[in-house]
Amino acid sequence: MLQIPNYRIEGLIGEGGMGMVYKGVHLNLDRPVAIKVLHPLLVKEPQLRERFYNEARLMAKLVHPNIVQLFDFNEQDDVLYLVMEYVDGRTLDKVIGREVGPIPHTRAIPLIRQILEGVNYAHEQGIIHRDIKPSNILLTPKDIIKITDFGIAKIAGSKGMTKTGTKVGTLFYMSPEQVMGKEADQRSDLYSIGVTAYEMLSGKMPLDDGTSSEYQVMDAIVHRSFPDPRSYYPDIPEWLVNWVMQMIAKQPQDRFHSCKSALVALQSNEQQSTPTSVYVGNNSAPLPVSKNTQQSVSLNPSTSTTRPKVQLKSPWIAALLSLICGGFGLFYVSAVQGFLGIAVGIFWGLITKGKGAFYLLWIAYPIWGFMAADNFNSKRIQQLK
Ligand SMILES: Nc1ncnc2c1ncn2[C@@H]1O[C@H](COP(=O)(O)OP(=O)(O)O)[C@@H](O)[C@H]1O
Ligand SMILES: [Mg+2]
Repeated sequence: MLQIPNYRIEGLIGEGGMGMVYKGVHLNLDRPVAIKVLHPLLVKEPQLRERFYNEARLMAKLVHPNIVQLFDFNEQDDVLYLVMEYVDGRTLDKVIGREVGPIPHTRAIPLIRQILEGVNYAHEQGIIHRDIKPSNILLTPKDIIKITDFGIAKIAGSKGMTKTGTKVGTLFYMSPEQVMGKEADQRSDLYSIGVTAYEMLSGKMPLDDGTSSEYQVMDAIVHRSFPDPRSYYPDIPEWLVNWVMQMIAKQPQDRFHSCKSALVALQSNEQQSTPTSVYVGNNSAPLPVSKNTQQSVSLNPSTSTTRPKVQLKSPWIAALLSLICGGFGLFYVSAVQGFLGIAVGIFWGLITKGKGAFYLLWIAYPIWGFMAADNFNSKRIQQLK
């Protein structure tokens, strides 16, 4: 069993190619921490040791509410470990997986904003993360974002370390220039944030068809344009689609110049957003138009791609619930109340298209129909008596 001085180990919370992450508690402070340990078999590998040292040194420079805070870094009896703030939450990939797909844009935008703020801060300190992806982004139950895993981060302008033991799963978020082995700058992180945002909003990672080889994925990153995210989930505002597409432009110069300008564009559009608004940000770079960078989204709403068929999966679940609950209302004699329950339930289901708090309303209205019918029925029975 792993022994770390001053800490009680409570269990394993994550495992990656390099080692394990444990939950621990500081014995004197009674403070929960996350302890990332380099795998014992890798401790002797100079390159991996260096990567671990690099991660700790860069993390130590960063203090920001959206970045996991480093507390300590040590080596003891061939155990190399870093102690950091414990984030009680889930990684974004699990959130997208568990909520079965897309995060509604009203919830996703504040999360994307926090990712940008954390990464912007790192950039301001001269640090490029280079491995932004949903599994390296933690989300607390209060929707606070915490960025972690600075394993391959580097100081801007320096050569940096390469990622060892890359699996296809980690490739999807890499920028075209990273895939081509070129020097990654801040705009690479912007690309990875863009792909992460794409996945959050659409619930889909289009490069992941489960069968592609590492080479095919790399080729797609460099040459293939992402489909309009609305083909996976239609309820994304046009301006936001365009914003995401600018983030994931193939050529770095076609992206936003910095997290700051991406943030400004996101916020100004959010404030004045209308259903058909088009993004014309303060960064005048046009959406990519070259062959390699062509996106399937048009800037002009009148010529935009045909809107995909509206997916009504969630509203239909609501409608079904309404039918069942309202049906009970009918059963209890009062046709008017029962039908009202059904109608209101279906109506809410359809107009809200399956969003958050309205789930409650879908369920509440038919139940209300049922209860009202029940009440009506009891009164009638009493009258009959
Ligand atoms: N500070 C933390 N608090 C809670 N869980 C964490 C923390 N850091 C990492 N984890 C968990 O451990 C996993 C692996 O951590 P990470 O730093 O990404 O290591 P790797 O380099 O192996 O990918 C994460 O995906 C997350 O589930
Ligand atoms: Mg990781």
